[in-house]
Amino acid sequence: MKSLQHLNKYFYKYRVRLLLGILFVISQNFFAIYPAKLVREALDLVIETIKKGQADAIQTISHHVFIFLLWIVGVAMARGILMFLMRQTIIVISRLIEFDLKNEIFHQYQRLSLAFYRRNNTGDLMNRISEDVSRVRMYIGPAVMYTVNLIVLFILIIVSMLNVNVKLTLYVLAPLPLLSLSIYWVSDIMNRKGEEVQEQQSTLSTFVQEAFSGIRVLKSFVKEEQSVNDFSAESETYKNKSLELVKVNAMFFPLMLLLVGLSTLLTVYIGGKEVIAHRITTGNIAEFIIYVNMLTWPVASLGWVTSIVQRAAASQERINEFLQLEPEIISLTEIPTDIRGNIRFNDVSFVYPDSGVRALDHVSFEIEEGKSLAVLGRTGSGKSTLANLILRMYDATEGTITIDGVPVEKISLASLRRQVGYVPQDVFLFSDTIENNIAFGLMNGHEKDERRKLAMEAAQQAVIYDNIMEFPKAFETMVGERGITLSGGQKQRVSIARAIIRKPKILLFDDCLSAVDTKTEENILNNLEEIMMNRTSIIISHRVSSVKNADQIIVLDQGKIVERGNHDELIERKNIYFELYEKQLLEEEETN
Ligand SMILES: Nc1ncnc2c1ncn2[C@@H]1O[C@H](COP(=O)(O)OP(=O)(O)O)[C@@H](O)[C@H]1O
Ligand SMILES: [Mg+2]
Repeated sequence: MKSLQHLNKYFYKYRVRLLLGILFVISQNFFAIYPAKLVREALDLVIETIKKGQADAIQTISHHVFIFLLWIVGVAMARGILMFLMRQTIIVISRLIEFDLKNEIFHQYQRLSLAFYRRNNTGDLMNRISEDVSRVRMYIGPAVMYTVNLIVLFILIIVSMLNVNVKLTLYVLAPLPLLSLSIYWVSDIMNRKGEEVQEQQSTLSTFVQEAFSGIRVLKSFVKEEQSVNDFSAESETYKNKSLELVKVNAMFFPLMLLLVGLSTLLTVYIGGKEVIAHRITTGNIAEFIIYVNMLTWPVASLGWVTSIVQRAAASQERINEFLQLEPEIISLTEIPTDIRGNIRFNDVSFVYPDSGVRALDHVSFEIEEGKSLAVLGRTGSGKSTLANLILRMYDATEGTITIDGVPVEKISLASLRRQVGYVPQDVFLFSDTIENNIAFGLMNGHEKDERRKLAMEAAQQAVIYDNIMEFPKAFETMVGERGITLSGGQKQRVSIARAIIRKPKILLFDDCLSAVDTKTEENILNNLEEIMMNRTSIIISHRVSSVKNADQIIVLDQGKIVERGNHDELIERKNIYFELYEKQLLEEEETN
């Protein structure tokens, strides 16, 4: 329950609406119980008049009953309007808070560092922002509304009942706690089953999604039939769970009616005896029956609400768990710095916190402003880790990394990342046009034409321009889900264009030419020479051909620098680099 306190700030934010809503709830109830009194008066009047046996009895009765009728209709209408307003305030608040909460969670997601995303899977992140939030919304809207409603109605009705007859009141109310308990019990089962259904639903949609995105693999391995069978099995589970839910759902109303019937029965029986003893009137029985029926839903809702609140609390606790996380990587300053581009690693080691893998082991090097460094090594030798450390996706476990002599931790995080043009190893493009994907690298505040011009320029430098122009829609071509599928090499080049478009001080290319042939690679590298001039650049690769022109080359193996120097020096040394070079040269000749 404590976890729900997180929402108090939102209740406070919408306090005026909330108060108004509560006011509507209260006033609505006054109108709700009024007809019961009118019915009693009408009935008693009818009985009295008949007893007196006046000549114009029928006329008197119909005249009065007509007036009562008008009253009841009027009151019902007033109540209807108030109910509308009540929902318009309280349910609207719940939607507003839902909106705020979703934004709060997403904002927090964006703050958290990469390590967080490694620890949590996408499904989990999505669930918190969709399902958990909607469960919390249920608490805010219905729970608040029904609780206030119940309290007010309960007080009003009990007072009215006690005024009439204490004994009858006690008897009539006796089954109600039972009603509340059993509804709680049923709704708890209902909610649990409902969640199971929902879970299965998401399993099903994940399954379908995978089947679609992996359709090529599926078809080429001739697994269509198996896929169909697997789907049927999942569907079957979904069906069974849904049927179970329906069964419990079907119990809900009969159970409620049974218990209400019990109360009504008691009212008629005990009430009848009281009437015979002249302690109450016949009209009172009618009034009581209406009261009992009116109490039913609020009392039933008590059980329902309890179950909702418990669920909301559990959901909010899961949400809070994420909201209370502090990102591991924080910016100590927001003052932007102009980076010149001297990068130094002083005895840097890095151990991945979750796997304990020592990805970098006492690495030291210095790149002077405007120079280039190439990092060569086999898969898993720690190259991407090195890139991650420069970008501060992680902080070094030991040693220091400085840029222009300042430890990276002391540089504004946004400022640092903005001045690094990064091409990640696993290319990711958004489902958007090619132009927008490239211009994504720009800061905001460019005119449309200028954006287009810059995107074209960057595309030319990344040697992707001609390819793009061959598409019918050129730069307007959609990529990703609903667009065309670019080849691996094309994607890499779009990704390079995105990185260089803003002309950053530091270029960081992580194995970004792995999917292009050596000829295109050379072409791209030649083209990039211009932009790499006067910019510090780091080229990560497992291919000698990508790195040989760099001012300085380091060879990584299991996180350690095993060789360093420039191409000529390393060739002369006839060691690891030389062997790699020979081997790759040979491979290349074979493919040609
Ligand atoms: N997020 C991670 N969590 C744990 N271990 C990782 C993670 N990323 C990489 N590693 C491990 O760190 C080592 C270096 O990886 P990486 O820097 O990606 O190598 P490279 O880019 O040279 O192929 C590998 O052993 C890899 O398994
Ligand atoms: Mg890598």
